[in-house]
Amino acid sequence: MELIYKKLIAGELKELENSLNESINSDIQLATEVSNYLVGSGGKRIRPAICILVAKALGYSGNDLIKLASSIELLHTATLIHDDVVDESLTRRGKESIHTKWDNAHGVLVGDFVYSKAFQLMASFDEPKIIRTLADSTNRISEGEVLQLTLKNQSILSEEDYFEVIDRKTAELFKVSAVTAGILCSCDNTILKSLANFANSLGIAFQIQDDILDYYGDESLTGKKLGKDFEEGKFTLPIILALKQNNNKNQTQLLSLFKRGRHEDFPKILLLLEEGNVLKTTQKIFASYAEECMGELKNIPQNSYKDALEDIVSNLGSRLT
Ligand code: IPE
Ligand code: IPE
Ligand code: MG
Ligand code: MG
Repeated sequence: MELIYKKLIAGELKELENSLNESINSDIQLATEVSNYLVGSGGKRIRPAICILVAKALGYSGNDLIKLASSIELLHTATLIHDDVVDESLTRRGKESIHTKWDNAHGVLVGDFVYSKAFQLMASFDEPKIIRTLADSTNRISEGEVLQLTLKNQSILSEEDYFEVIDRKTAELFKVSAVTAGILCSCDNTILKSLANFANSLGIAFQIQDDILDYYGDESLTGKKLGKDFEEGKFTLPIILALKQNNNKNQTQLLSLFKRGRHEDFPKILLLLEEGNVLKTTQKIFASYAEECMGELKNIPQNSYKDALEDIVSNLGSRLT
């Protein structure tokens, strides 16, 4: 089933693709080639779509929207390139990740190239509040990835730390996508606050679903390796809840399998998750964020763009890609 927004803002999404392609064009051919490898291989474009839908729902008719949406997607792309180096992920968007196809140096440097392209677009805004908001967010996102790295060595991760990490590394970019759209429309602080809360909860829910798909997804749809978080020893909500919910014997077994992170143990982990009824509990927490998110839209005028935003939220729990 196709989400409403794909048709509703098809024109803007086409312009976005053109703008992205133009942005990564460089005299240094290798920079264009490597970044185009990822930019040109799809991606849901969910963050720029949110930015465009929010601005349209608020009646925006100026010329800066595609530029803003592109800078946000470029920021996202740069974080993915670096994230795959750090996570040692072999696949992204159904293809070899950049550092696998080339090497880590290419991943780090081309990631920087894409970041800097995002900054060039950001810097061209006349409104200083947009530039400041984007810059502060970029900083918070990288802090999230660093925090995740710091917490990696802990023997166990608390639910609280998990939410702190995903709030920064993922929800922040969703938030900035909606808030900067609101700033573009000269919204007052009440609306900006609602937009921030809406997109923040959306981002948290989005990452929980990503973490669910890492255990229960289909590689051919996610374009990423199944069981990667387990093999990497990355504590995400399913494992955190499993450690809380299972009996003591299962907890010890779960933790020792998790620490070893062997590919062949993945089916055993899935069994233990099943015993703890973990999928259901994780989905429940997901649903509470999705619900919170819907509530925050009440201050936005009802129109087809808001319908499309609500449609994104309603279908987030069944997303497979
Ligand atoms: C992947 O984001 C990183 C997360 C925050 C989970 P997306 O799932 O939006 O990735 P693409 O852009 O569609 O490939
Ligand atoms: C999200 O975390 C990464 C970023 C926000 C850059 P993940 O590590 O779970 O993302 P995937 O699964 O690699 O896409
Ligand atoms: Mg990753
Ligand atoms: Mg993931």
